[in-house]
Amino acid sequence: MHIQKAVDYINQKKCVVFPTETVYGLGADALDAESAENIFKLKNRPPSNPLIVHLPDIDGIYSVAENITELELRLLEHFSPGPLSLILPKKSIVPDIVTGGLDTVGVRIPSHPVALEFLRAVKKPICAPSANISGKPSPTTYEMAEFYMGGKDVVILDGGSLECGLESTVIKVENSDIYLLRAGSVTPEMIFDFTGIMPEQDKKQNHQSPGTRYPHYKPQGRVFLYDTGKHPPEDNQAALLCLKRPNSDYSKIYHFESVRDYAHSLYDVFFQCDKLGIKTIICELPPADGEGLALRDRLMRAAE
Ligand code: TXA
Ligand code: MG
Repeated sequence: MHIQKAVDYINQKKCVVFPTETVYGLGADALDAESAENIFKLKNRPPSNPLIVHLPDIDGIYSVAENITELELRLLEHFSPGPLSLILPKKSIVPDIVTGGLDTVGVRIPSHPVALEFLRAVKKPICAPSANISGKPSPTTYEMAEFYMGGKDVVILDGGSLECGLESTVIKVENSDIYLLRAGSVTPEMIFDFTGIMPEQDKKQNHQSPGTRYPHYKPQGRVFLYDTGKHPPEDNQAALLCLKRPNSDYSKIYHFESVRDYAHSLYDVFFQCDKLGIKTIICELPPADGEGLALRDRLMRAAE
């Protein structure tokens, strides 16, 4: 593993692609505006879309955020390391470009061993969006990371095929309410079981997560959706992604054993469909509970 080379790249204000348990991230020094700007150029990201800052431990979080409440600390301690990002009041050392000019910063402690090794070795907070070109599905395999960022002046750390396959859950605590800004594999039910507070998907809070305004997760083929339990549209030229195998013919059928398996494979399957030149991708929409919520969200955006 090129951890030392990755550390050197960060110290030279360059970017490093690293695996997390969710998706590959495109990281840079979160306390240096020039480094963070490189991320926006490399992935063609709209400048108003803030980045999540990655740290190896809770102490690291206190270096970029302040006024952390007891509830926020309990959430961090319980779900970290893992696929939960928390929006917290930011410290002034975090440059505006990282937070899209907001007075808050998104933080998370990833659990992938390579991410933790990299974050501990570099000894700096690392801001990182998903390592795709903006609008495209996020990379969840080394092959995808290499497809998007190979040939650019970055180091790519190989973490194989990633566990979750969808981006982290993003939440914000206000007073004693919890708002879900992006669904992920830490589900609202899990947050409720731990805190007794059911996260709200308040539409009027949407402005607080600028990332949700932009087109996202789109493969080249057009994505069509059908509800679970219904018959999928018939098209023998199309790819079908399903939890229940139908009788009709498709050019390619991707059948998943579970919602988790579907979420884990979604972006990779989109990538494989693009490689095959498939023009129509028909996807079964899972029920909107548990991990199905995040998967539905990504599928609906891919189909927009
Ligand atoms: O799983 C993940 O979170 C991955 C890996 C690399 O950690 N990262 C990721 O980053 O998905 P990105 O940039 O693709 O998505 C970050 C999301 C965006 O929707 C952004 O608007 C939101 O988090 N966000 C970041 N900082 C925020 C802030 N201060 N306030 C509100 N939303 C914020
Ligand atoms: Mg992204």
